[in-house]
Amino acid sequence: MVEEIAAIMANCGRCIVLTGAGISAESGVPTFRGKDGLWGKFRAEELATMDAFLSNPAIVWEWYNWRRELMAKVEPNPGHLAITEMESLFDDFTLVTQNVDNLHRVAGTRNILELHGNIHHNKCVECNRSHDPKAQIDPDEIPCCEHCGGKIRPDVVWYGEMLDSAIINAAFQQSERADIFFSVGTSAIVHPAASLPPIAKRSGATLVEVNVEETPISFLADFHVRGKSGEFLPRLVEELKKRRASE
Ligand code: OAD
Repeated sequence: MVEEIAAIMANCGRCIVLTGAGISAESGVPTFRGKDGLWGKFRAEELATMDAFLSNPAIVWEWYNWRRELMAKVEPNPGHLAITEMESLFDDFTLVTQNVDNLHRVAGTRNILELHGNIHHNKCVECNRSHDPKAQIDPDEIPCCEHCGGKIRPDVVWYGEMLDSAIINAAFQQSERADIFFSVGTSAIVHPAASLPPIAKRSGATLVEVNVEETPISFLADFHVRGKSGEFLPRLVEELKKRRASE
């Protein structure tokens, strides 16, 4: 399957990769669904909300401090690095990620649309202004915005919140134009990200899914690679490089 996909890629001008938590699993970042999605007795859905922040900002910050600490320790894995190399092999390449862990940037990928924000960034809960990224926030003394006095929160999309319209619109546009679209390590159930692969497919792109299990979009994929992204993507990039070199 590697050769077949690389042969198609070699004739493609526009490539999009959509990633989810699975791409970072091999770096040691827990995915959302499944047993690893728990923190103490809380679920992400109970803490990553505006209601949780308004009623108990300290516990929400404790949770984000814990996640920031974890994410600061981990490193990009061969899957992230392969995507960075893939970018260098296309004139038109976009990475769309649902992950907030920053690992694609650390890996050196440049054209990134972060649909759900970035865990290392902060903003004001009231006026949305960006604030200094700070590794840890004291949950008992949460800093306030110097403009409006609102509390500082992590700059990520919480459950029930809208995505940044410029970012999601760019992702839709790129998906409509893609020649080849990779859906990597995502359960493909959280919208609007989950609508991107079907949009690309309807617009004529070859759809490749890389996942250790089936998802609701597997049936749409031209290629369903059932395996780890950190193992498959480097092999694919090596194959594509060989083809590009012989062009
Ligand atoms: P999920 O935790 O829902 O899904 C992770 C997917 O990665 C699953 O389909 C796994 O089978 C797959 N997977 C695990 N290890 C893998 C590996 N080594 N290689 C390839 N695939 C692997 O994570 P997301 O789909 O990213 O949103 O979840 C989407 C959104 O749901 C998140 O961004 C988050 C959450 O609610 C917000 O926080 C707004």
